[in-house]
Amino acid sequence: MKQDRGAWRSKLGFILAAAGSAVGLGNLWKFPYLTYKFGGGEHGHGAGGFVIIYLMAVLLLGLPVMIAEVMIGRRGRLNPVGSFRALRPGTAWKYAGLLGVITGFLILSYYAVVAGWTIEYIAKSVTWEYADYDAHVSDQAVRDRVFSELSVAPAGALFLKEHGLIRDTADASAVQAAWARVKTDKKYANLLKQAKKEFFLAFKTRFRTQRALKHAIIEKKMEIYPASLFERFLKNPVKQVGYFFLFMLLTMLVVIGGVSGGIERWNKVLMPLLLLMLFTLVGRVFTLDGGVRAMRFLFYPDFSRVTFNTVLWAVGQAFFSLSLGMGALLTYGSYLPKDAKISKASLAIVSLDTLVALAAAFVIFGSIFTFGLTMHGSGIGNLFTAVPGIFLHMPGGRFLSILFYSLVAFAALTSTVSLMEVAAAYLIDEHDMSRKRAVLIAGAAIFLLGVPSALSFNLLANARIFHLTFFGLVDFFSANIALPLGGILIAIFVGWVLTAREKHEEVFEFPVWLYSVWDFLVRFVAPAAILVLLFALLTGRVSG
Ligand code: PFF
Repeated sequence: MKQDRGAWRSKLGFILAAAGSAVGLGNLWKFPYLTYKFGGGEHGHGAGGFVIIYLMAVLLLGLPVMIAEVMIGRRGRLNPVGSFRALRPGTAWKYAGLLGVITGFLILSYYAVVAGWTIEYIAKSVTWEYADYDAHVSDQAVRDRVFSELSVAPAGALFLKEHGLIRDTADASAVQAAWARVKTDKKYANLLKQAKKEFFLAFKTRFRTQRALKHAIIEKKMEIYPASLFERFLKNPVKQVGYFFLFMLLTMLVVIGGVSGGIERWNKVLMPLLLLMLFTLVGRVFTLDGGVRAMRFLFYPDFSRVTFNTVLWAVGQAFFSLSLGMGALLTYGSYLPKDAKISKASLAIVSLDTLVALAAAFVIFGSIFTFGLTMHGSGIGNLFTAVPGIFLHMPGGRFLSILFYSLVAFAALTSTVSLMEVAAAYLIDEHDMSRKRAVLIAGAAIFLLGVPSALSFNLLANARIFHLTFFGLVDFFSANIALPLGGILIAIFVGWVLTAREKHEEVFEFPVWLYSVWDFLVRFVAPAAILVLLFALLTGRVSG
């Protein structure tokens, strides 16, 4: 017997569920973290280059490919493999669907690890653990750090430049190397003495009053404490695997609930609430000192720093954030009624997704700049280390913090659910399994696959493949290679294999000119752009 596939109760249900799939950690965690990384990190030169390329990728590749992907699902009315097969039986196209199913397994296996972090942060908000920064960081430790970061570092770099030992004051590794030489090589003894004198002076000018120093110390504590809390948490393998397991269980429970019973019902309530919360925070950050700087950081373009690598990551992120290229939206589209307008729904989803990503990045950078946080490392923990600062300075902060991380957890859940749904739909349709059995089997496999990712921050931190941890490798491969590859296949299938009549039936709402623009983007622009990138990747021009 063929299993009952279920259907959306309403068109809005589809939009909300698809938006729920799109809006998730990709927007709240990964986009801000990538803007940080490509915006120059601590010595930020501005992330505008990355952000603008990302926005172009969303508009020129994401939106047209989304319409194409949903179209395949609605016409095929099955999971990715089944839909491709139904539309072009007896061809190899079904393997494009299979690639999607596999990519979904890969993404969920590390995505649910990060999703697990949100549970720990709900707990930390309930206990209000990060409010304790004063008690947990000693004054002396902070004083040393304030001294070195706020006066020695900038003054030191200048000093080195003046004495011809470095060329670029923003080049952190050159600064470090030069200092190491000055400190150890006897021939610099005099120079070292002079430097110390200058630093002391710089320190005194910077903190003319006791109060200024005290203020700087408090801020530094607020930076050190949440960051060290997060690092400690990452280093705990039991917690990492435990929360990952818990999140997989939650996901499986919702997916077992079925299409309209589980996914749709949750999305309807939680998506609007997340938006409300996020825009409250945006409003708050506008009133803080760092708001304007955050805007500048996000949008000021420095194209001299844009490389192939930036473009590859921006395109990968566009696909990842929009849930494109692996059949998630294809599968959701398969539950969509014939009279729904795919293009309008896609536009709504793309706009919402982009808005949420920009809002999240704005909030996080607003906090970084307002509280003078120096984010160490890649910025992978920004969502967890920068945001608490805002809540610590807000009336009702504890309650809002609980609410915020709960909503992040739910946003992640609506995405993990869509990832799982692809695997489930595949097993249900293609192997005639019951929903429950399909979910149990897929869930167990994904969990096993994800354990090395959960251990990538602790036990396996030093196990590197191409310089990447297991987590980093799965992330890089699935988001930057597999999704764009899936996207190209979708674009070629819809652009070149489907007939114009088939397409017209699906986007019946398009006026002629718009159809032509969309068709052009799907046929030529998307495949060409992605091909160039994948080619650059093969020839070693880009890396993780
Ligand atoms: N779009 C999700 C996010 O931004 O968090 C992640 C994702 C979900 C990617 C579903 C791919 C997918 F099929």
